Amino acid sequence: MLILCIESSCDETAAAVVRDGRQVLSNVVASQVDVHARYGGVVPELASRKHVEALPVVIEQALAEAGVTLAGIDGFGVTRGPGLLGALLTGLSTAKALAWATGKPLVAVHHMEGHILAPLLEGELDFPFLALAVSGGHTHLYRVDGIGRYRILGQTLDDAAGEAYDKVAKLLGLGYPGGAVIDRLAGEGNPKAVAFPRPMLHKGGFDFSFSGIKTAVLQEVGPAPDPLPAARLNDLCASFQAAMVEVLTVKTLRAAEAEGLTRIVVAGGVACNRGLRKRFSELAATGRFTVHFPSPSLCGDNAAMLGVPADHYLRLGRVAGLDTEPLATWALDQC
Ligand code: KG4
Ligand code: ZN
Repeated sequence: MLILCIESSCDETAAAVVRDGRQVLSNVVASQVDVHARYGGVVPELASRKHVEALPVVIEQALAEAGVTLAGIDGFGVTRGPGLLGALLTGLSTAKALAWATGKPLVAVHHMEGHILAPLLEGELDFPFLALAVSGGHTHLYRVDGIGRYRILGQTLDDAAGEAYDKVAKLLGLGYPGGAVIDRLAGEGNPKAVAFPRPMLHKGGFDFSFSGIKTAVLQEVGPAPDPLPAARLNDLCASFQAAMVEVLTVKTLRAAEAEGLTRIVVAGGVACNRGLRKRFSELAATGRFTVHFPSPSLCGDNAAMLGVPADHYLRLGRVAGLDTEPLATWALDQC
């Protein structure tokens, strides 16, 4: 079964063709990052307009790279939410139009469900597992007992991890989005140079809080820093990253132990982070659990990741009507 998947929840316009919910035939992503960079964050109205321009192009490219035409597609998977309402609407309307025009079924998918199931596109993974979903809008710990069977164990009470990276990058003058830049500079610095706080490390159950780390960085550098010397910048990035990685890994392991889970999936844009991947891999070397990171191209926003749940739901007959509306907020355990 071939599904054409469409993703437009934030600032990436993406389309992919996935076979049987496991094999990626094409995975096309058009990033709008240059459009939003000069504003220091995503401008929702601009995002919607750019999606409208890019959607036909990425869809045609995804079909061409997969070597199929619309006639060969068995159904359409699309992100229904959560995300920016206008941005979601562009992808959802396009998918509905394609479903209507071709008479093929439409499946509406939760964005985070795509992220946490992405490892299934690259190999076998048994349920149950613990998923740490870390992106620009989410930092959640889920118990995953199967596709569609999710329980939220913890989440951030303020900023998402990616949001914290982006805000710290902005105040260090590193531009937007800054997660990958901080990650790169962190590799050159001393993680012990500044003792940034590890918020809620010993309280709050499996919930997170990242706004305090961001404030601590602001206090360390002052509100409008002169260009910082490179060595100092590297040390600040390394120290910030050390705090983020410690909180994320310690809480994730604690949740896995409490739930008796030995498989851990780390997904979402922040799962590209080299410090996080390295620390989880070191911890996994103890043999107490296995850790599964999607390849970087499947960590950031993409449409292929929607293929796993879309295929599953299509086989179950959970088809969306043409009156389906986008959802800006949508809890994964309610989908
Ligand atoms: O999943 P994603 O592409 O979009 C959302 O659904 O939010 O995640 C984007 C986020 C941004 O905040 C970006 O700065 C962050 O992921 N990110 C990183 C890295 N690469 C991307 N954060 C830390 N280290 C990285 N290497
Ligand atoms: Zn995402």
